[in-house]
Amino acid sequence: MKSVAVLGASGQLGQTLNYLVKDADGSFQFFSSDEVDITDKSSIENTFQKNQFDFCINCAAYTNVEAAESDIQNAFLVNATGVKNVAEVCKDLKIKLIHISTDYVFDGTKNEPYLANDTTNPISQYGRSKLKGEKHIKEILADYYIIRTSWLYSVYGKNFMKTIINWILEDKVVNITTEETGTPTSCLELGRFILYLATSKNIPCGIYNFSARGSTTWFGFAREIAMRYDSRKINNINSVESFKTKAKRPKYSVLDISNTEAIYNKSLKTWQAALSETINLFKSQESIT
Ligand SMILES: NC(=O)c1ccc[n+]([C@@H]2O[C@H](COP(=O)([O-])OP(=O)(O)OC[C@H]3O[C@@H](n4cnc5c(N)ncnc54)[C@H](OP(=O)(O)O)[C@@H]3O)[C@@H](O)[C@H]2O)c1
Repeated sequence: MKSVAVLGASGQLGQTLNYLVKDADGSFQFFSSDEVDITDKSSIENTFQKNQFDFCINCAAYTNVEAAESDIQNAFLVNATGVKNVAEVCKDLKIKLIHISTDYVFDGTKNEPYLANDTTNPISQYGRSKLKGEKHIKEILADYYIIRTSWLYSVYGKNFMKTIINWILEDKVVNITTEETGTPTSCLELGRFILYLATSKNIPCGIYNFSARGSTTWFGFAREIAMRYDSRKINNINSVESFKTKAKRPKYSVLDISNTEAIYNKSLKTWQAALSETINLFKSQESIT
């Protein structure tokens, strides 16, 4: 049985993994930023030396894309230096690292799905900091999985799906942009893939893309959320061509998932089917509370 450490445990992906591990074959320990701060190498060392982990799943990251444009130092401290610290400790203690990266390492000019080995060219500080983290891992480790994913949502934390549902509950009429095309990704689906990597044998290390199948715009995603949460509110969601933000975002960041499906031995869900699962889970939790 594999022993696995999860860093960044209070984030939406960390909490989703905690929900999923009930059914997984392995022993999992979860560490929030209070317990392990990845910007402090000794904090990682102290925790990892007390245990014999086979895998480290790093969900810890500076994820505020807008704030990163002005808070550049802290974004790089967590997403680059922090990741370097994690990789160095993993190397010293012979732990395999599963690290989460982003579609924002690409500039969005390709117009067809990005392959894992396509040229990176981030256009935001967040994207640059995440790419620097990837580079550290590749320099330091031989045994790593870097999973690039996009547009994450879940029942936990702050995310686009929950924002739209809150607006629907307040009966707000909102304008959502059609400017970017990408793929919404359910943390449940990503979490299952991460657990598959951590509990399988002989999966080649390297970079994997992970998203659902298909693509849409933020407007298309918002409409689908409204339709599946409360279809009476579908007309509360209007489209707008562009929306002013500090950070530039790739206009097109769909990921090619064919290599991932090949090592996973299955076809991934469409983004609409994956969204249904999360909305149903959200509704079932609402009915309990
Ligand atoms: N969200 C997306 O749409 C998206 C898209 C593509 C890729 N990703 C990547 O997917 C991964 C998971 O993202 P997410 O959506 O789950 O993010 P999230 O909900 O913002 O969670 C990130 C977690 O990292 C923790 N953290 C921040 N600084 C830390 C530090 N110095 N040491 C330890 N932990 C620290 C945060 O702790 P606190 O709780 O204390 O703040 C938070 O719990 C990240 O690598 C992100 O870059 C996300």
